[in-house]
Amino acid sequence: MVFRQLISPETLLEPFILLKNTALNGWKQVARKFGLHEDLYYNPLHKKLDRPVEVILVGAGHRGTNYAEYAIKNPGEMKVTGVADPNSYRLQKTARRHKISAANCFTTWEDVFKKEKFADAVIIATPDQLHSGPCLQALERGYDVLLEKPIAPTEEECRAILSRAKEKGRIVGVCHVLRYTPYFRELKQIIAAKMIGDVISVQHMEPIEYIHMSHSYVRGNWRNSKTATPIILAKSSHDADIIRWLVNEPIDMVHCFGNLKWFRKENAPEGSTERCTDGCAVESTCPYSALQIYYRDRQRLHVFDLPDDKSKWDKTILKGLKTTNYGRCVYRMDNDQPDHLIVNMQFKNGTTAAFSMEAFVSYEGRRTRIMGSMGDIQGDMESFILTQFRTGKTLTWNLKTDSHGGGDHPLVKDWVQAVGQQNPALLSSTIDVSVESHVMAFAAERSRLNKTIETVVV
Ligand SMILES: NC(=O)c1ccc[n+]([C@@H]2O[C@H](COP(=O)([O-])OP(=O)(O)OC[C@H]3O[C@@H](n4cnc5c(N)ncnc54)[C@H](O)[C@@H]3O)[C@@H](O)[C@H]2O)c1
Repeated sequence: MVFRQLISPETLLEPFILLKNTALNGWKQVARKFGLHEDLYYNPLHKKLDRPVEVILVGAGHRGTNYAEYAIKNPGEMKVTGVADPNSYRLQKTARRHKISAANCFTTWEDVFKKEKFADAVIIATPDQLHSGPCLQALERGYDVLLEKPIAPTEEECRAILSRAKEKGRIVGVCHVLRYTPYFRELKQIIAAKMIGDVISVQHMEPIEYIHMSHSYVRGNWRNSKTATPIILAKSSHDADIIRWLVNEPIDMVHCFGNLKWFRKENAPEGSTERCTDGCAVESTCPYSALQIYYRDRQRLHVFDLPDDKSKWDKTILKGLKTTNYGRCVYRMDNDQPDHLIVNMQFKNGTTAAFSMEAFVSYEGRRTRIMGSMGDIQGDMESFILTQFRTGKTLTWNLKTDSHGGGDHPLVKDWVQAVGQQNPALLSSTIDVSVESHVMAFAAERSRLNKTIETVVV
């Protein structure tokens, strides 16, 4: 349900909506006055495609598999006709799921581009360090691209992808899925409609949640900034993008503090061991126990490539805890990603934004406060309260979504439409705007490392 539906009198009567001091017709009139549409994803340029867009999936891991599922749900719009992944379990599983011929299954991205072009586009969902290689090759071969964020680990590679996409006239979408969540789409439209006047400042917090932090940025593939990308890109490039998108102004200056304070060797408790399975004396009381997270609570299991037969899961998970990084002590890793950081931004029109990324919280879901000259908004990704100063009226918007805020498949839909119609204007998350927010994130990282205030030159 979208904000515009909530402001209709019928919907306002629904019991789960908390409404305070609000004249029922007031919001509807406001919506009408600003010409807002009922459907958040409505785009008059979307149309039925003559044939499905054919794509090759490069990297059939967690993200790639999710994007590819769009084809299963929407066979008239997208078809996966090729796949590359060195992990044979994932390669075979994807080939079976999408009925991909053996000739179009590859063990690495390089092999895809040794063949003549055999699809319309490529989805690149490989690890962070393997984005620019396949992306540049795909553009060279004339494919359009959907590229996972971060675009690349260095500013130079980001700019190289942007200029090659321009040269070749190809479409490159970047997976800033937050732009496609109902929550941020509502905020964007409310701001654009000037319902809170001019945006004066923004406070935005990304609560990673302590288990998610330990899983991805202490034990997982993103734990080290040198083998992945600095966390401000790996995790918070979404936030840089969304703040820039909401403020809708070029960035001027940026400043960042942050460090790795807790997940360090000196904080390892007495009696702890290299692995949680090695008879650690504090395992039963440690909130980061791998045995508790993966084995007993069965969380975040996609990294173990579990068999369909659930009776084999115990054995497979235990083996994973004894042999992979996911069973190692969080205090004894080769991690260097900050577990907390704060970024201050100033935009060219004087608007300011304060961003904070926090590991040590019990909850997920971005927290946003937007302060406008005529009203303000406080939100947590599942709900927000909007107050207009002139009338004192407030309204709470409310929507439960998946853990990614419901943005993944709407993003794929826009990209498929853009590729199918060969019209990049259909895409919100283009390479041009994404490079800008990445440049902002690179500047923030320079500021953190060099203790400087950085002017951002896009
Ligand atoms: N948009 C988002 O919100 C979001 C969320 C999480 C991760 N990501 C990004 O998505 C990307 C993928 O993350 P993931 O969680 O799916 O990781 P993953 O490890 O589950 O998947 C990556 C896949 O790439 C494969 N791969 C490795 N080398 C390859 C090669 N040479 N050729 C082809 N495939 C190769 C791996 O075997 C693996 O299956 C990363 O860049 C990550 O930062 C984005």
